[in-house]
Amino acid sequence: MRPEHPRRGTHPGTGQVLVRVHASSLNARDLFMLDGRYPVPPGRVPLSDAAGVVEATGPGTTRFAVGDRMVNSFNPLWFGGPQRTPGQNHHTDIYGWLAEYVVIDEQLLVPMPAHLDFIEAATLPCAAVTAYSALEGVGPGDTVLVQGSGGVSLFALQLARAAGARVIATTSSEKKAARLRELGASDVINYRDTPNWGAEVRRLTNDQGADIIVEVGGAGTITQSIAAVAYRGVISLVGHVAFDTTGMSLLDFTYSGATLRAIGGGSRSDLEDMNRVITAHQLRPVIDRVFPFEEALDAAAHLASGAHFGKVVISH
Ligand SMILES: NC(=O)c1ccc[n+]([C@@H]2O[C@H](COP(=O)([O-])OP(=O)(O)OC[C@H]3O[C@@H](n4cnc5c(N)ncnc54)[C@H](OP(=O)(O)O)[C@@H]3O)[C@@H](O)[C@H]2O)c1
Repeated sequence: MRPEHPRRGTHPGTGQVLVRVHASSLNARDLFMLDGRYPVPPGRVPLSDAAGVVEATGPGTTRFAVGDRMVNSFNPLWFGGPQRTPGQNHHTDIYGWLAEYVVIDEQLLVPMPAHLDFIEAATLPCAAVTAYSALEGVGPGDTVLVQGSGGVSLFALQLARAAGARVIATTSSEKKAARLRELGASDVINYRDTPNWGAEVRRLTNDQGADIIVEVGGAGTITQSIAAVAYRGVISLVGHVAFDTTGMSLLDFTYSGATLRAIGGGSRSDLEDMNRVITAHQLRPVIDRVFPFEEALDAAAHLASGAHFGKVVISH
């Protein structure tokens, strides 16, 4: 099924709902679109993540009623199971969520976890589901390594702790290290003071290494991740915030016995499963700062500064 592009206007058609958007959130990918690194057709409404209320339903809708609170699924064409083809995305391929009202196919939405407000729920579609996918298979007694204190990494920390895993984090400052410990990291390594942090992860784990590494750095951090990963562990390749041209050692990677798994967000089913975990553990997303709708560009500049800890959100 190929959902139609969300219609402009306020009258939902067959299978569609009208959503009053209350909040949207920013991800690193939004910066790439703003500065031209990801090409986007002109005039396309930005942002991939939002929460709001259904204000009207079109003929034949079954998933939502007027008044229901919703979040959108990040990948509009991926409903469950393995992803067979690269997805479409809000903003790049279809209209995004920096809008007061959106008319959209109800199949692209899921109910919000009841204990969250709109600001919190708007952070779930991209960063949280990506962290959930990156942690596939995590369980009690595992060690998870998360890099930095951005959106994906903090969700990975919270979800890994909820699964009973130990979490080791890296970050750039002592202030952020203290907050990572408050969230449940057993150990935090400053990657500026300790550039060879892979060896430190091995020391902290009695030379066992981390079972799952949520790799948000990419080329600039993967050499340390290979040093840090447990034999037959998994490096979930999520992002590329640490640019580097030296590349990874494929020989060291082979000796690690590890699996390098490319992550591409998650399906609607992953979002629903993750929301059950978030609800069961009453997890609350870490919100760094909320900007009013008119200051959306300031919100992007704040995210680009790297000063944030957790999610940057826009209130509509
Ligand atoms: N594959 C997917 O499906 C998917 C989905 C979502 C995001 N992503 C990608 O994942 C990455 C993170 O996204 P995000 O939205 O979480 O970004 P974000 O909120 O902007 O967080 C970026 C954080 O990375 C940390 N960082 C920067 N350089 C680092 C380094 N050398 N080592 C360790 N940490 C470093 C910084 O935290 P500290 O200041 O604490 O160091 C920074 O706050 C981006 O590349 C994004 O494009 C991919």
